[in-house]
Amino acid sequence: MTNEKIPFALKRERDWKMRGNIVNAECEEPVMRGQCGIMGNCLASSAKVEAAHSSRTTSRVSKTSPSSVPSNLSIQSYCEASDVSSLPTPRSEGEILSSPNLKAFAFNELKNATRNFRPDSLLGEGGFGCVYKGWIDEHTFTASKPGSGMVVAVKKLKPEGLQGHKEWLTEVDYLGQLHHQNLVKLIGYCVEGENRLLVYEFMSKGSLENHLFRRGLQPLSWSVRMKVAIGAARGLSFLHNAQSQVIYRDFKASNILLDADFNPKLSDFGLAKAGPTGDRTHVSTQVMGTQGYAAPEYVATGRLTAKSDVYSFGVVLLELLSGRRAVDRTKAGVEQNLVEWTKPYLGDKRKLFRIMDTKLGGQYPQKGAYMAATLALQCLNREAKARPPMTEVLETLEQIAASKTVGRNNQSEQKRVHIPARKCKVQMGAL
Ligand SMILES: Nc1ncnc2c1ncn2[C@@H]1O[C@H](COP(=O)(O)OP(=O)(O)OP(=O)(O)O)[C@@H](O)[C@H]1O
Ligand SMILES: [Mg+2]
Repeated sequence: MTNEKIPFALKRERDWKMRGNIVNAECEEPVMRGQCGIMGNCLASSAKVEAAHSSRTTSRVSKTSPSSVPSNLSIQSYCEASDVSSLPTPRSEGEILSSPNLKAFAFNELKNATRNFRPDSLLGEGGFGCVYKGWIDEHTFTASKPGSGMVVAVKKLKPEGLQGHKEWLTEVDYLGQLHHQNLVKLIGYCVEGENRLLVYEFMSKGSLENHLFRRGLQPLSWSVRMKVAIGAARGLSFLHNAQSQVIYRDFKASNILLDADFNPKLSDFGLAKAGPTGDRTHVSTQVMGTQGYAAPEYVATGRLTAKSDVYSFGVVLLELLSGRRAVDRTKAGVEQNLVEWTKPYLGDKRKLFRIMDTKLGGQYPQKGAYMAATLALQCLNREAKARPPMTEVLETLEQIAASKTVGRNNQSEQKRVHIPARKCKVQMGAL
């Protein structure tokens, strides 16, 4: 079951009509999901919301010397501790691309590393291109034989023009400077002619989206869901509390990648934006993000704050609780929109089980689930200021995880949640 991909212009018009908002925005060209030319089937999920509140600026790519191996970069030596000392300030393209933390790859190296971008190396596809599995030598970072050396994920952007380049460069800029255990590690990039590629550490369990919604994968347990929520909250909290605040702007299940132990890391910094400075309360910007995750006030006004990310976090928390997508066009009526559908149940202890993921098989602590649902409700407050900051969200999640441990020794928390048969039918009927 995947999200229907709706052409942006139609999607936007329909949503805003539904909300009854009058939005003073010009429509920009849609960010369309294409195919990589090798797969008949697109693996991407949700469509991006994009509308113009400001004009685009672009810059010419300056070619950099390829294949310089950065002296201080290796996955093994990668520091798990957060690094808040070097934070994004506006930099020229040349400065961004000469980051000592990143390797500039030649296109041919990445072609060899991915076996010529072979379909069987494909890990997934997003709005801006396909992601391939590749192998590089862990010392020299040159292409190595498949199966030997270090595994990497290579994202190859579709040659889609200036917006793609802008986001590609933003990602190189942010991930070249920000390092944290819950942010995906960018190893390097390639800029050659029209080609734009990014090389990341390989996240062997793929995206949270796949684990929550794709059939055939083992359902995530309650404790793994909480682990993912906590790690993702820590990543966002790090960005929001950096010396120069960073607003992530694209928080969603497909951008949360999981390592072998289900440690989550945020990926895709193409939409990240510096937070307001001085006395400013927000930054005014193009509305960009993904439908179903973007905060309503941001979609309506283009005014972006860290609380927009908090809203998106609330949506993902709901996805973790319910196992349902933010937007699911295969459902009818109110159930298409996860926030609208779940809201009436979130604050009601006795009704909460109706929206909980049936794939959990009732194996979750009732109190913890209720605390998480209440937290999601706070994150989804229509009033942005009333949403908790990410530090608070993180604390609450940690409390939930801790109380679950207590619950292990506690019969009432430990026991399976019983879903009354009659009510279960009501729930199934509504599916
Ligand atoms: N570093 C990585 N390691 C392993 N798999 C990855 C990595 N990065 C991406 N992928 C896989 O590739 C898929 C596509 O990622 P991509 O970021 O291009 O698109 P998306 O997040 O689905 O959509 P969007 O373009 O809206 O961000 C992911 O869902 C994931 O399965
Ligand atoms: Mg992504």
